[in-house]
Amino acid sequence: MKRLWRDFVSRGLSTGRWLKTCRWGLCLAAVALPLQQASAEPIVIRFSHVVGPNTPKGIGAQRFKALVEQKLPGKVRVEIYGGGSRFNDEQAILALLFGEIELAAPSFSKFRAVSNELMIFDVPFLFKDRDALKRFQAGRSGQRLLDSMLDRGLKGLAYWDNGPRVIATKRPVKAPGDLRGLTFRIEPSAVIERQYRSLRVVPITMPFSRVRDAARSGLISGQENAWSNILSKGLHEFHPHFAEVGHTFLGYMLVTSTAFWDGLPSDVRGELEKILGQVTEEVNKLALEKHTQSRSKVLESGKAQVFTPTDAQRAAWEEALAPVREAFADRIGRQLLNDAVGN
Ligand code: SIN
Repeated sequence: MKRLWRDFVSRGLSTGRWLKTCRWGLCLAAVALPLQQASAEPIVIRFSHVVGPNTPKGIGAQRFKALVEQKLPGKVRVEIYGGGSRFNDEQAILALLFGEIELAAPSFSKFRAVSNELMIFDVPFLFKDRDALKRFQAGRSGQRLLDSMLDRGLKGLAYWDNGPRVIATKRPVKAPGDLRGLTFRIEPSAVIERQYRSLRVVPITMPFSRVRDAARSGLISGQENAWSNILSKGLHEFHPHFAEVGHTFLGYMLVTSTAFWDGLPSDVRGELEKILGQVTEEVNKLALEKHTQSRSKVLESGKAQVFTPTDAQRAAWEEALAPVREAFADRIGRQLLNDAVGN
């Protein structure tokens, strides 16, 4: 706990907010767990996420709820808090630790306070395609990462996909130098921040729920996201130029707290594991479909223009962003990076 506190403070989160959350969180955790065990009431899984209902994660959350309530009737109830209605993703990680929710699926970028290794998923051009990413996640290193935050009180349960991040801007962008001078909303990731600073972009970190307003007001002149998120927030209305350079994928770790997970009756935990296996397969298949459908819908709106680089143009992006990997190699771990490249 001491290490966690130190990390939150040193990584720039507000000490006041942290202490306040601690106080309330510890009280809640102290009363919530015994109460849940003592009563015959169903176990409640509060699942917090920040996206729309018609995105891979939004649909996955509803599917999880439906299957849990079908297979564990009266034993487990799922409450979904979507669209950032309760917590943004960084708050959700704290809320898990203090028993205010039981499940979240933040993008990897949101784990900055609790993991250096998960930064690997934001390193540009590390995975040559989606299959390489999926092989890495299914392999030994990827499976180990799910358990890499146990000492922080967090347990990864699965990897959920969205899709490749596409760079969206108010003016056409083809070469890395075209981004110079733009202001971008970014996710709270040191790797992404470095990526955009090296392209002479001014990065501003903000929660997903603020991106549409920031784009509409002109505060930001660009951002990056997966097609389904761009469509669900109508971001193409403000940033209609898209560069599909294939630098990273937006994906999630489905995560719970070890206190909650270890405290479950073993039959319930086993059934939840089976359900999660099924839902994960469905979500990841759906993510591929949503990627294509959402891209087409954005293009059909008539407002969007997509730049798809040639091999030579893509190589220029790779070259421009190559230093980012080296800059984070020690923090992420060179062995882990090598494992990723080897896929
Ligand atoms: C999400 O897909 O969960 C949100 C990603 C973002 O913050 O842009």
